Amino acid sequence: MAEPTFRAPKGTRDILPPESGRRRALIDAFAVQAGLGGFGEVMSPIFEDLGVFKRLGESTDVVTKEMFDFFDKGDPPQHLALRPELTASICRAYAEHRPVPPWKIWYEGPQFRYEQPQAGRYRQFSQVGVETLGADDPQADIDVIALAWRFYESLGLRQVSLLLNSLGDPSCRPAYMDALRNHLESSAAALTDQSRVTLERNPLRVLDSKRPEDQPVIDAAPLMVDYLSDDTAEHFAAVRAGLDALEIPYQISPRLVRGLDYYTRTTFEFAADALATAQNAVGGGGRYDGLVEDLGGPATPGIGFALGVDRILLACDAEDVFPGPVPTVKIFVVDVTGGSHALGVCNELRDAGIGADRSYGGRSMKAQMKVADRSGAPFAAIIGEDEVAAGEVTLRDLRGDTGQRRIPLDSLAYEVSQLLTK
Ligand code: HAM
Repeated sequence: MAEPTFRAPKGTRDILPPESGRRRALIDAFAVQAGLGGFGEVMSPIFEDLGVFKRLGESTDVVTKEMFDFFDKGDPPQHLALRPELTASICRAYAEHRPVPPWKIWYEGPQFRYEQPQAGRYRQFSQVGVETLGADDPQADIDVIALAWRFYESLGLRQVSLLLNSLGDPSCRPAYMDALRNHLESSAAALTDQSRVTLERNPLRVLDSKRPEDQPVIDAAPLMVDYLSDDTAEHFAAVRAGLDALEIPYQISPRLVRGLDYYTRTTFEFAADALATAQNAVGGGGRYDGLVEDLGGPATPGIGFALGVDRILLACDAEDVFPGPVPTVKIFVVDVTGGSHALGVCNELRDAGIGADRSYGGRSMKAQMKVADRSGAPFAAIIGEDEVAAGEVTLRDLRGDTGQRRIPLDSLAYEVSQLLTK
């Protein structure tokens, strides 16, 4: 095959059928779980004012290195960015529309981060997620985590681990940050150059470093859980008790800081243990009790998560679960009289709610049967001159062993629907 003139940009992919159908089914499965939990869908813009995303943290990679930003053609031009995630957009929408709290919403769609692509890491990727705004009750945290857990289970995934931490709040974080900064500064000589730069901007982000040279210093760093105020410690205990009551297993992960700056109190991540790649985080989330206010809205607590659709599908492959939906075409109409009979037959079948397809270009019986096979349809309706003269079709079983038989054309839809319910 000749080299194509254009390819999809680096870090992006075309999702073709049947994989696209599997992805759609995954999003539908998520919509079902979100609906069961009382969440309504929000569809927000794919780009926002860059300022919305700056709130993710001036020292985060997402803001400093990975933003797809651009100026529009306005006068003066507005500095916009493709969304790297949806929590900030949802908080912006909350501040703009002031819905009655608690506001429980879910979303799905593409996100954009200018990252170095690798297995499970893309520049355009999809997330599904939920956010609950206006509830600081730990019960809301448990509900949200349980929803993600139930969703993974509904797909058939069994090898997902929940990692849990508390990042404290403005009442106790400063004391921890002082302790962390002191520790990192006193060990700065043992840190990499990159981590020394990060330390200047935000000591917490140093804990994100995956560089092996930084690990001894990180391992010896003080832990946020040892600095929690009574209030945040109580909140964290209530979340753990709720997860225990629901028998959702978790590991406390005291160094889990997440890659975005808005988190307070509960933070969590889901790791797919079946994925051998470095990118095995199939979801993450937590509380962000200051974000709405930061975006100009009223003081509003929030908790939510986003799950990476691309990585979840990789995890499903690794666990050999969630094969995706069965083909929608149930019957392939093979018309060897030129093709015009297939038109009416297909339309009648579709009117009856039965997926039907055909081929074009008046091809031979053999060629059309090949396409019928590829379509995944369990049945074929064959129309030749004989059948037309008799007002009949030949109904052939393509998957089972019931062979073929001639039936009246006007009973085709009924016969097929009977066979499909067997
Ligand atoms: P996040 O951890 O940045 O959190 O992303 C959530 C999930 O999106 C990750 O666990 C991963 O599965 C997927 N993901 C992230 N980046 C990529 C990428 N480059 N390629 C493929 N998948 C990726 C958030 O986005 C927060 N908004 C989550 C949240 C919601 N927190 C509170 N509410």
